[in-house]
Amino acid sequence: MALKFKRSSANHTQSTSHDAGDPDLIIQAEGVVKTYQTGAQQITALKGVDFSVARGEMVAVMGPSGCGKTTLLNCLSGLDDVTSGRIWLEGQDLARMKDRTRTDYRARRMGFIFQVYNLLPVLSAVENVELPLLVAGVRPNEARRKSLEALDTVDLADWAKHRPAELSGGQRQRVTIARSLVNDPALVWADEPTGALDSKTATEIIDLMQALNRSQGLTFVLVTHDPGVGARCDRIVRMRDGEIDHSADAQKSVTVEEIAGPANVAAD
Ligand SMILES: Nc1ncnc2c1ncn2[C@@H]1O[C@H](COP(=O)(O)OP(=O)(O)O)[C@@H](O)[C@H]1O
Ligand SMILES: [Mg+2]
Repeated sequence: MALKFKRSSANHTQSTSHDAGDPDLIIQAEGVVKTYQTGAQQITALKGVDFSVARGEMVAVMGPSGCGKTTLLNCLSGLDDVTSGRIWLEGQDLARMKDRTRTDYRARRMGFIFQVYNLLPVLSAVENVELPLLVAGVRPNEARRKSLEALDTVDLADWAKHRPAELSGGQRQRVTIARSLVNDPALVWADEPTGALDSKTATEIIDLMQALNRSQGLTFVLVTHDPGVGARCDRIVRMRDGEIDHSADAQKSVTVEEIAGPANVAAD
């Protein structure tokens, strides 16, 4: 009898075992596990991650190299399959979406910015930006109009005809931001968006993202090593060895060591 009671009471407190996600959360993930099998070796890159992001938030994901940040981004955006766990995107269960629906959802609702600009070198800025729209079947005139508008938003209207090789690193990253915005997404994922930039250019890029977040309510989830970038976000989620670090220290926005560097702190 006692056992039975315990079990049912445990079930009762498991408010997480529900079917419909919370539509106010853009992303809701529970117990996400991701295991990579490489030959005989098995690597568990995510060990049961709970993670959610509300509409309009700008969230930084930080943590040491190899802790699973990119894996988290790939799994939560549906670019990669999870081993177990559940993910809802704007209340929709990712696992229940057919491949085609998932791809459509990504194309309509998500934008992506990566450290490596992955712009096509033979295309001009405007052609690079309009490419996702053309792939999604938007008519060429409309795609061009939206692409020029997105380039204007990132202050690159005068550079529309230039190819990536003719642009600076910061300008190229602004082209990728324009490309991530062109489909008017609800959420933009950015993996180390300032990782290849000098600090002045990195600040300009984060200024731009923050302005888009504030003015258009665009939700950002950005993976970063840069404490300066983390400090500009509404919230920092720290990861360690495939898990979210919930320790009190991890919840502080940015630590003194991160700003000054450990040597400077020690010398103080
Ligand atoms: N495609 C893959 N195949 C096998 N192992 C992978 C793959 N991608 C990542 N990993 C491993 O998963 C762990 C987390 O990697 P990653 O998510 O790239 O970390 P981070 O982005 O935080 O540096 C690492 O141990 C990495 O080697
Ligand atoms: Mg990474």
